[in-house]
Amino acid sequence: MRKLIVAGNWKMNTSVAEGVELAKKVSEYAEKKNLPAEKQIVIAPPFTHLAPIAQVINADKVILAAQDCAATTNGAYTGEVSASMLKGLGVKAVILGHSERRQYFKENSEILLKKIKLALAEGLDIIFCCGETKDQREAGANLYNNVIKAQLVDTVFTLSAEEFKKVIIAYEPVWAIGTGLTATPEQAQEIHEFIRKEIANNYNAQVAEDTTILYGGSCKPSNAAEIFAKKDVDGGLIGGASLKADDFGKLIDAR
Ligand code: 13P
Repeated sequence: MRKLIVAGNWKMNTSVAEGVELAKKVSEYAEKKNLPAEKQIVIAPPFTHLAPIAQVINADKVILAAQDCAATTNGAYTGEVSASMLKGLGVKAVILGHSERRQYFKENSEILLKKIKLALAEGLDIIFCCGETKDQREAGANLYNNVIKAQLVDTVFTLSAEEFKKVIIAYEPVWAIGTGLTATPEQAQEIHEFIRKEIANNYNAQVAEDTTILYGGSCKPSNAAEIFAKKDVDGGLIGGASLKADDFGKLIDAR
């Protein structure tokens, strides 16, 4: 079923001690709010923070996610962290396809599909990011729609409808990430509706209706409510503003 989600992607920020404090505050806030099951709060701290954070959060109220996982199962892959290791820590979801991973670590659809399959094999949910760059946006709707569609077609759309139930889509226009430029509520709605139609074309109308689609890119307390109010926007994937407990709380309230 479609969920209403506010997810914090901490990226490579906070010390372990700061992260544990932040996670505790988010968990206390979630406990106080006592949200219904379809309203979920997700945090995605760095790998190093996951084990201590798993000890301090109320796992019924806050879903612990990782920001990445390896494209292989355990073995001689220095520096990598496998989906099964994450699962063992109490991680429930993994962000894949973030534009920062695509841009700086050259992750393409082929690599992402391997990661998706391994994460699914461990029973993890996938928060799959897609979105166009500034140049692609400026080239017009034909082009950016095709870019987003291709990012989905080559990866999550190859999954069975049953597998796809574990996928949450995050539309994150690259030009809006960390730039202070946010998509207008109308721009977000237009792409979310497009993505939902493509899900319906690839699977069926019910699958499309049930899929959670998040918006990400310079979401903050001052702009979130308007974006989240759009019909096809089911919440947000938040970067910078998820590092401040108060702001993250306001975003939870906005949803
Ligand atoms: P900002 O909210 O900092 O723009 O980051 C968005 C993002 O990339 C979340 O994954």
